[in-house]
Amino acid sequence: MYIHVLGAAAGGGLPQWNCRCDVCRLAWEGDPRVTPRTQSSLAVSADGRSWALINCAPEVLTQIRRTPALFPRQGKRDTPIASILLTNGDVDHVGGLLSLRESSPYRLHATPEIHAALRDSPVFNVLAPDHVERVEVALEETLTLAEGLEARIFAVPGKAALYLEGEDPDIGSEGEATVGVEFRVGARRAYYIPGCAAMNERLAARLEGADLLLFDGTLWRDDEMIRAGVGHKAGSRMGHMSMSGETGSMAALSSLNIGRRVFVHINNTNPVLIDDSPERREARRHGWEIAHDGMELEC
Ligand code: MLT
Ligand code: MN
Ligand code: ZN
Repeated sequence: MYIHVLGAAAGGGLPQWNCRCDVCRLAWEGDPRVTPRTQSSLAVSADGRSWALINCAPEVLTQIRRTPALFPRQGKRDTPIASILLTNGDVDHVGGLLSLRESSPYRLHATPEIHAALRDSPVFNVLAPDHVERVEVALEETLTLAEGLEARIFAVPGKAALYLEGEDPDIGSEGEATVGVEFRVGARRAYYIPGCAAMNERLAARLEGADLLLFDGTLWRDDEMIRAGVGHKAGSRMGHMSMSGETGSMAALSSLNIGRRVFVHINNTNPVLIDDSPERREARRHGWEIAHDGMELEC
């Protein structure tokens, strides 16, 4: 199985257009310790020829242009992208769909709830139904995303997309709004969970024995955006568990047997994005890698 990290950042990317937090400021200044990153997306393939995108970031055109495996290869119109799977309806994961509208066929996989969010925004009607087949996927159903690439989606603790939040959003509930993905090729098993509000026994049991885990690395600490002076929301309110701390993901997953662990969907305030930071070193000590755009993983 081949996995390309197309975009390793969370919503906003790095640097974020309007941000001068400590990390974005270094990126704006061109400091070599901070590598810019686009928003959250993966390309996955079993054979290196037929690919699935998992999430579709607003920067998808840039991501495709710098990934030769995703170039058109034959005839006048072509794409090796067989399908796109969405793990939630957030803008960082669906915004790029508006740029993939020029009449090449692909399947768009998502839960009924995520599809409903797209249907409620008429701008997505630019995806003509005779080219883009919207496939509703049930939790735990096995589907084929690309040639030889099987996947299964499962509920993880999360919340509705930001633009669908009501007055009092239900955070940490498990349903069809936020899902993780299991990829299988032969006996190899990889997981992609770019948004997760909390770890629980069921999820931990599922991840036990995985060859590869790509996991929500939004924040280092829960009050990070407040401390950075760029927001009033804690990570827990945004549906993202933090990396550090007693209830953080590094601690929660430390006892599991997992071949390789990589943080993705990393918010621009997160100090692990600075190459030599103490937080980066601590994550490495816990066995975690920090994804960057263009990172290639084989599993
Ligand atoms: C998130 O992951 O919490 C969202 O992508 C936030 C956003 O919409 O910017
Ligand atoms: Mn996001
Ligand atoms: Zn920032």
